[in-house]
Amino acid sequence: MAEELLITESTDKKEKYESLLPQIEALVTTEVDPIANMANVASALKYGMDFFWVGFYIVKEDELVLGPFQGPIACTRIRKGKGVCGTSWEKAETIIVPDVDDFPGHIACSSDSRSEIVVPGISNGEVKWILDVDSTEVNSFDTIDQYYLERLCNYLLPKNS
Ligand code: SME
Repeated sequence: MAEELLITESTDKKEKYESLLPQIEALVTTEVDPIANMANVASALKYGMDFFWVGFYIVKEDELVLGPFQGPIACTRIRKGKGVCGTSWEKAETIIVPDVDDFPGHIACSSDSRSEIVVPGISNGEVKWILDVDSTEVNSFDTIDQYYLERLCNYLLPKNS
């Protein structure tokens, strides 16, 4: 596809995802390099969904290390079980945090971040990376985000996983 994203005028979250996901799928299925794909996904989500911060943390030995992202600079390393990202890695499940002040151990990379969703990328039963999306408002994420972001993460995983 052309290296240009068609961004819908709609303010409806579901419609925005519906417009964006096929474009992202087309973008990542023509490229095999995972870092290149993560970089484009971070940009597509940041600009397509107007999120505050979108990025990947990649599992490297016993830590998550910051990967491609869009938004303000962020912490570079997170231990397993720490913060929302480390907890999502440990539990191998998506975590929605409606208000970061209510999540014990939340890691505040930016004091502007008020709510977040973290989705793990799981291949052969192992978490390989996590996708973290942050908002400057509380209660920004729900099961609609979970549904579409989990689908999107599947595009980035090897097809035999
Ligand atoms: N808030 C995350 C850390 C990553 S930043 O939000 C980019 C956490 O608690 O794991």
